[in-house]
Amino acid sequence: MRILVTGGAGFIGSNFVRRTLATRPDTRVTVLDKLTYAANPASLADLDAGRCRLVEGDVCDAALVDKLVADADLVVHFAAESHNDRSLREPAAFVRTNVEGTVAVLTACARHDVRLHHISTDEVFGDLALDDPARFTPQTPYRPSSPYSASKASADHFVRAWVRSFGLRATISNCSNNYGPRQHPEKFIPRQILRLLSGRPPRVYGTGENVRDWIHVDDHNDAVWAIIERGEPGQTYLIGADGEASNLDVVRALNRAFGRDADDFEHVTDRPGHDRRYAIDAASTRALGWTPRHMDLAAGLAGTVDWYRANEPWWRAAFDAAEDFYAATERRAAPTARVPARGAVRDVGN
Ligand code: NAD
Ligand code: TYD
Repeated sequence: MRILVTGGAGFIGSNFVRRTLATRPDTRVTVLDKLTYAANPASLADLDAGRCRLVEGDVCDAALVDKLVADADLVVHFAAESHNDRSLREPAAFVRTNVEGTVAVLTACARHDVRLHHISTDEVFGDLALDDPARFTPQTPYRPSSPYSASKASADHFVRAWVRSFGLRATISNCSNNYGPRQHPEKFIPRQILRLLSGRPPRVYGTGENVRDWIHVDDHNDAVWAIIERGEPGQTYLIGADGEASNLDVVRALNRAFGRDADDFEHVTDRPGHDRRYAIDAASTRALGWTPRHMDLAAGLAGTVDWYRANEPWWRAAFDAAEDFYAATERRAAPTARVPARGAVRDVGN
């Protein structure tokens, strides 16, 4: 099977490529990646060149995408601008890659009748109140909050339009927050690990009460394979591992993993429009026979700390650049207001 993986030099895509080659001997992979600041070609460098090749290129380059799709049996589309904080500073890049890039992939897959799996996020559903018992399901209405989540929501709509209008054989998955090896140092968990490894305390936005539903990247990628192999074209699947934890829970667990006082961290300025809580009901993907294996978040975090500890050349330059990015706007701040449990975030300005 010839697989085209867009964004395969990024966090989830590179772990997908590595896991695919390790577990499916009948596969060959072509990675299409623009090698933006978020990519790290070292994540693929040790792979068998006979089974994995990296094409440096833009997913918005329709001619290049068409040529690569023509030679594929399956396309898995990870490529995206993926960081909320950056989407607040440079939204146009998110519209271009996440929307126009997806349309280029859809056009080529329809033209060559190639099966597509589109990687989306639970952030398309907006946020939940902290005290809301609900979780996201495939029927939850889209209510994105940030330029990042709005661009991903838009891309999902285009996938459905191609399924309906052009008979494209495509599935969509909306996954919760991933953690694990090879995640860019700008993201929450690696940032805190690398600050701790550099002798600096973790930094929490606002009060830290915001909740994310953490899943190990290998569990996400196993779910993607379950959908590719057993999912129904045209359907949407939600992926999550019942891993809800507040940001405070996570920094305390990381402090403990480093043998530090759990409450030794800094509060900094909050993210504008900061989503309160995400939570996934993954029944749609579990029905395909998939179950997550990494159910102990503290153990998963400890394994992730070990990986970063052992791989400084992989992260050093990107970590220094990410800290410079944050230093431009981030300030120490006392957490004055609790995260509103209900309503208030969405009601501001209405
Ligand atoms: P990432 O930022 O680590 O990787 C994205 C990759 O896409 C990078 O290698 C980058 O170079 C590449 N890319 C960016 N623009 C490109 C372009 N124009 N053409 C070709 N390649 C381009 O992101 P990630 O965390 O691995 O996320 C991968 C996918 O999973 C994204 O679609 C994201 O929305 C989705 N997702 C992420 C999470 C998460 O927690 N990280 C959760 C759910 C869904
Ligand atoms: P992030 O990894 O950016 O993912 P997302 O915004 O897609 O959920 O952030 C995860 C959570 O951590 C989010 O609530 C913002 C928060 N956060 C911090 O508290 N401190 C940080 O330094 C960063 C980067 C994020």
